[in-house]
Amino acid sequence: MRELVRYATLAPNSHNTQPWKFRIDTDRIDVLPDFSRRCPAVDPDDHHLFVTLGCATENLVLAARAHGLRADVSVFNATADAIRIDLEPAAPEDSPRFRAITKRQCTRANYDGKPVPSEQLSALEASATNEDVAAMMFTAKRDLETILEYVVAGNTAQMNDKAFIAELKQWIRFSEPSIVEHRDGLFSASSGNPTVPNWVGKTMLNFVFTEDSENEKYTGHIRSSAGVIAFVSQEDNRESWINVGRCYERFALQATVFGLRHAHINQAVEVPEVRAQFADYLGIGEQRPDLLVRFGYGPELPRSLRRSVDQVIIA
Ligand SMILES: Cc1cc2nc3c(=O)[nH]c(=O)nc-3n(C[C@H](O)[C@H](O)[C@H](O)COP(=O)(O)O)c2cc1C
Repeated sequence: MRELVRYATLAPNSHNTQPWKFRIDTDRIDVLPDFSRRCPAVDPDDHHLFVTLGCATENLVLAARAHGLRADVSVFNATADAIRIDLEPAAPEDSPRFRAITKRQCTRANYDGKPVPSEQLSALEASATNEDVAAMMFTAKRDLETILEYVVAGNTAQMNDKAFIAELKQWIRFSEPSIVEHRDGLFSASSGNPTVPNWVGKTMLNFVFTEDSENEKYTGHIRSSAGVIAFVSQEDNRESWINVGRCYERFALQATVFGLRHAHINQAVEVPEVRAQFADYLGIGEQRPDLLVRFGYGPELPRSLRRSVDQVIIA
């Protein structure tokens, strides 16, 4: 059961705050939110937090199957803030996606611009959807340029938002000793940046991390990508956000199986005004675009660390 939790903690998660707790019982594991690790500035309604719990759930289900346990997932109370995974013995089901759990990463680098074969695009799209969640995929240059405009608009708003910047700084780990001490947060090297002592990093950030430099970086990132995928849930509540997380993680693992990298460009869906304009562009009416993710072929970057299983299991 602890090993299943370990696989769950390898899931992507917003700002690498790892906002989860796990409760192990004889034949089930509950996945619970750790609200002490929420990010009120970038994620005021805990949307990303519940998407994150969905990602962890998907890993746990895949790991359970591989270890000979069938998993039945339910959201178990009225406020939908806990996920119950009932487990019962079944024939072990190894799968390429399970094997990809330890290889997957969010890769914030330029990719090589090469296209993805169309049958793989179809398989990726299929992995990213279920009855509650639709995926919209874009690979045409003209679409990527338009999407870039929404990302730049969102990024510009965030770079001018003091609360957003203060929160982000709190979670950046500039040095190796700092990432090893905390085992959470955004490690500089995992974003392709140099590692420096924390005080140097915090000072440098004020000069290096500007609206223009960030917008330029995202322009390179999007123009070098093979495509972009938007996840859109039918409803806008915690249960749907958990479902979005499960679909996104399936996509991320399938992309890893195909040798593809991916990274988030959520600026277009995090700032409410920009999100509304972006929803118009997607033609989805009142529905919420949940996540925006680019993909393509690119390098592997240093990994993000996770806290130990002991730190996330509760009685
Ligand atoms: C709901 C959600 C939102 C995220 N938003 C962003 C984002 O806006 N920008 C970004 O660079 N990464 C984003 N990420 C990726 C996380 O930062 C990443 O998963 C985390 O740092 C752990 O790194 P890893 O996925 O490489 O293991 C997001 C992940 C999730 C699950």
